[in-house]
Amino acid sequence: MGVQQNGISSDHDSLVELKRLYLQSVPAGSIAFDGLVPVGQVDWGFQDRLYNTILSKDATAYQPADAYTRRFLKFLIACLERNLAEDEELHNSILTLYSNLISKSDSPSDATKPAFITYLLPPNQSLSHEEEKGGEGEERHKGEEDIQIVISERKSVLSTDGHTGSRTWEAALALGEFFLSTPLPTSKPISQSRILELGAGTAFTSILLSKLGAKRVLATDGDERVCEAIKRNINLNGHRNNISVSQLLWGASQEDSTVYTEPWDLIIGGDITYDTRDISGLVFTLERLLVRNRETGAKAIISATVRNENTLHEFDTELSAAGLNFKVQDVGEPGRQLWYYGSDTPIRIYTIG
Ligand SMILES: C[S@@+](CC[C@H](N)C(=O)[O-])C[C@H]1O[C@@H](n2cnc3c(N)ncnc32)[C@H](O)[C@@H]1O
Repeated sequence: MGVQQNGISSDHDSLVELKRLYLQSVPAGSIAFDGLVPVGQVDWGFQDRLYNTILSKDATAYQPADAYTRRFLKFLIACLERNLAEDEELHNSILTLYSNLISKSDSPSDATKPAFITYLLPPNQSLSHEEEKGGEGEERHKGEEDIQIVISERKSVLSTDGHTGSRTWEAALALGEFFLSTPLPTSKPISQSRILELGAGTAFTSILLSKLGAKRVLATDGDERVCEAIKRNINLNGHRNNISVSQLLWGASQEDSTVYTEPWDLIIGGDITYDTRDISGLVFTLERLLVRNRETGAKAIISATVRNENTLHEFDTELSAAGLNFKVQDVGEPGRQLWYYGSDTPIRIYTIG
């Protein structure tokens, strides 16, 4: 699967795009490197800028895992070599970095170690939401290209402890894109909206909404270790006063939690509908939250990866049985462009309440 490179028009844009792909640790084999270097004209100056913008220690505080960088460099160097201008040579800093990395051997546990993944918005990405609500957001969005979300995550589907919350799932990315491209379905601008995330995992979406200026964001997860990791991810993104973490298991076992008594404008969740054993607990929690916040017109936005239609059918059935209205929309190509999605599995967005 090739990675789309968004409207690259200049050297600068190419480097920003390469950086974006590198920092998200996009599989190097799927990056179209040739579209991101000057064809047949790679010179020392370009490589120097590339090294300083992307690869040097000063370029970012949160470099990807060594094993990833090594593979990225292998493809990058091959591409630079193919496109060298006459009498030009490969840059010594890039070659030194690569040779240092190949001399390090990975330990067998490296694949399950957490690594930094940084999600950057593409260059020239314009964002539309908020403008409809009186322009309050316009000011706030001026520097939006700079929004980046750093997450310490593992590649593995299941953590060594058996939970699924240690990587950012495609549904969370799609939920993030949804909020970046659509006005929030609340009656208020984001700066006045109080947002609760269920099954937050790495808290990618919560951190994004916190950075977009939500009044309050509470990232919850049923797993204590996931909640501890969320605190670390929040800190990686610069302590913000508008975001916090709380453990919340769906269903009746925690029905006296203060999460149910706080006011919320929006309840969100990404990839939390995958296990039929959890669906009734999840719907219990959604119903309770939406009923308690009915007066403020609270809604829930849940993005669901469609791995198994039967599981989602069960979710639909339980929502209807609980008397909750919902509409479902498929996330098409335009809804999955800002970041790299590792899979093409369909994603649906539920608007509930
Ligand atoms: C597939 S992950 C999705 C994480 C994140 N929303 C994302 O999309 O990247 C599901 C998350 O839901 C949490 N979870 C699963 N069952 C739960 C339950 N019964 N109550 C609360 N959280 C639960 C897991 O701990 C995990 O973090």
